[in-house]
Amino acid sequence: MILIQISDLHITDPGEPVDRLARTTERLAIAVARINAMQPRPDGVIVTGDLVNECRTSEYERLRQTLVPLQVPVWLMVGNHDARDDLRLVFDDHAYLGTRGFVQYTVEDLTVRLIALDSQIPGETAGALCAERLGWLEDRLAEQPDRPTMIFVHHPPFPSGIDRMDANGLVEGREELARIIGSHRQILGIGAGHVHRPIMTAIAGVPAHTCPSTAHQLGLDLLRTDGVSIVAEPPACLMHTRQPGAPLVTHHVYLDDYPVLADVSMK
Ligand SMILES: [Fe+2]
Ligand SMILES: [Fe+2]
Repeated sequence: MILIQISDLHITDPGEPVDRLARTTERLAIAVARINAMQPRPDGVIVTGDLVNECRTSEYERLRQTLVPLQVPVWLMVGNHDARDDLRLVFDDHAYLGTRGFVQYTVEDLTVRLIALDSQIPGETAGALCAERLGWLEDRLAEQPDRPTMIFVHHPPFPSGIDRMDANGLVEGREELARIIGSHRQILGIGAGHVHRPIMTAIAGVPAHTCPSTAHQLGLDLLRTDGVSIVAEPPACLMHTRQPGAPLVTHHVYLDDYPVLADVSMK
């Protein structure tokens, strides 16, 4: 399996501040071109939320247009900047999104099963996994206890050490999620977004990570408590790979162009 994870696209309308500052649509187009050029070709792309910036239908339409050239399947998730109804309206052919309620689904097409969770609290920056959402997760995990599985959720289910992002992180359900992860042996990894940085840890012994943004990143500052800085660290994605019977291997992949300095023959 080769699964690409991208996150925090923050697509908005032309001329909006984030469009001017971070060129989010242009950056997504670059990401799409990079993914199309990958060899071997990835099996698909999961997008871990903050698809758009202002919850506008027009932004989802711009997102849809920008994704048209993508040559592999894509699965969309919601973050705190998303609107479930507008997402479903514009991507009405993405049947996995469902028609009402939380945007939670499984992807059964790959050798690793994917489970997408919805951590949104409408109108809030912080996120939650309530009893209903976690109950749904437990039901899904019980369906296929022997099938290797990855879980994805927008808000990281662990503290990052970046104060303001943790204060606006997953404020409900973190302990219960850890209990669920610890009691199901088929989970290979947990993927999140929201903090616009690559961060790695473990939850109940299972690798957990956040994916950088395709556009703008947040500065690494473990002391600041009055805000965050938006920085021009390179856009990146994650490439999750797994051979049958092997552990999950995750590559951090920059999306900007960079030169090859030399080709070195080795034996
Ligand atoms: Fe974001
Ligand atoms: Fe977010």
